[in-house]
Amino acid sequence: MPGADVIIIGSGLAALSAAYHLHHKKNITIITKAKWLNSNSMLAQGGIAAALSKNDSWLSHFEDTLRAGNFHNAEDAVIQLVQEGPEDILGWIDKGMPFDKDRNGDFLLGKEGAHSHNRIVHSGGDATGKAMTQFIYNKLKNNITITEGELATDLIVKNGKCYGVKTISSSGEVKSHHASKTILATGGVGAVYGHTSNATVITGDGIAMAFRAGAALADMEFIQFHPTMLYANGECVGLISEAVRGEGAFLIDQNGRRIMKSVHPEQDLAPRDIVSRTIFDEINRGNQIYLDISPVHDFEKRFPTITGLCNQHGISLIEGKIPVAPGMHFIMGGVQTNGYGETTIPNLYAVGEVACTGVHGANRLASNSLLEGLVFGRRVAEHMLAAEFIEPSTITHHELFFDQPTKAKPNLPQKSEVQFMMTRYVGIQRTKEELQIAQTWFETFQQQFSFWDINVNDFTFEEVEMLNMLLVGWLITTSALTRTESRGGHYRLDFPLVDDDNWLKKQIVRTKLDMH
Ligand code: SIN
Repeated sequence: MPGADVIIIGSGLAALSAAYHLHHKKNITIITKAKWLNSNSMLAQGGIAAALSKNDSWLSHFEDTLRAGNFHNAEDAVIQLVQEGPEDILGWIDKGMPFDKDRNGDFLLGKEGAHSHNRIVHSGGDATGKAMTQFIYNKLKNNITITEGELATDLIVKNGKCYGVKTISSSGEVKSHHASKTILATGGVGAVYGHTSNATVITGDGIAMAFRAGAALADMEFIQFHPTMLYANGECVGLISEAVRGEGAFLIDQNGRRIMKSVHPEQDLAPRDIVSRTIFDEINRGNQIYLDISPVHDFEKRFPTITGLCNQHGISLIEGKIPVAPGMHFIMGGVQTNGYGETTIPNLYAVGEVACTGVHGANRLASNSLLEGLVFGRRVAEHMLAAEFIEPSTITHHELFFDQPTKAKPNLPQKSEVQFMMTRYVGIQRTKEELQIAQTWFETFQQQFSFWDINVNDFTFEEVEMLNMLLVGWLITTSALTRTESRGGHYRLDFPLVDDDNWLKKQIVRTKLDMH
């Protein structure tokens, strides 16, 4: 198989941004486990945050990002995001990206939780992720190779450096793809939880693969639950954007009581972790929670995707009440990188949700994730273009290792069992006892095989996904046990306060070397 200069694993906005900024000078292959459009980016509704208006400033966006992130953020990464973000967005606008405008031709800037200004550009009302992703894809599709339907199983690492990736197709065909540089852009871990806004393909593959290859991970305990997923027939079935609350909607119970009124000065636009926990508590007390959309002007026009979702699930908008519940949305942690996406393994980069630059701290600010994809995708590309590349056709000589076959295949659980464990015991509110229940359950599998040393090449496509889910579920659980404080997306009922004096305010960083 001929090599590429750069292999990008994943096809969301971060992947496409990196590919766009590289493709004029390098030969790029994108490898994605399903179709190119199966990504979380395609599902993102609200928009992209950036200080574009005259009254706004990068400093204000910086402060909001830190405040939402509970001051756990890497400040240099936040500065890169908020200072460079406006220029990235203006660059895409110059290339023709259609963001929504008012009658005077000015960009309509939405508001979301914990933002002190209206600074969210959007497209198609509430279809921003889809519009932005498709826009870049259309510019790229004839100039790069896109391989669909191959799950990346393990990184090819020789003498501590990465030279590509092994893949398996759904029919079981195994391949090695060689590259001078490899970028992980596989998204987060949504499918390890039962209720999630994420695409079903998001099974933690990049994080698991990087860990097995020896890369450092950080902040795995910080999980963001989006406060408002559409709740229909006992299930969370899709996202109701925070932009709806930005347009004036508010949360009520079945009696019309406003549940956020006395909880936080910003009420319904408080940071996501606070709103999600409040809804979770209300539901546990037996209340049903709704988004009252009566203040929103022209709801169907402003939010066509959400209107369609509600129609699809038989939720009428006539009474102006949408039933909602929180669901897993985003992992703040992931593969540890610097501001250029470099991981701890030479030639291996990570960008987007799979990466942990530290930019989001303990809780991501709304609409900073598409921005992260654009800004850090470009930064990875620019850094890479200045780096040394080896000729891809010589790379086969580097792949000299063959893994030892695994002796006997372990018994693996169903996806629903992992999802139950994570939702019930490693969810919005955590305690030592509950986390230990999940840990013990994960470790019954760990007794059969090592989560980080297993040879995944002996397994089917679906089995590799499960091995990845077990590894990331276990990493989240054990990191959550280690952090004995509450901060952002990690809330411990037994340690309910932020502990700034403790070493724990620093990142929990893990590599497989620490496991022996
Ligand atoms: C939303 O529209 O509420 C989700 C966007 C985001 O996660 O930033």
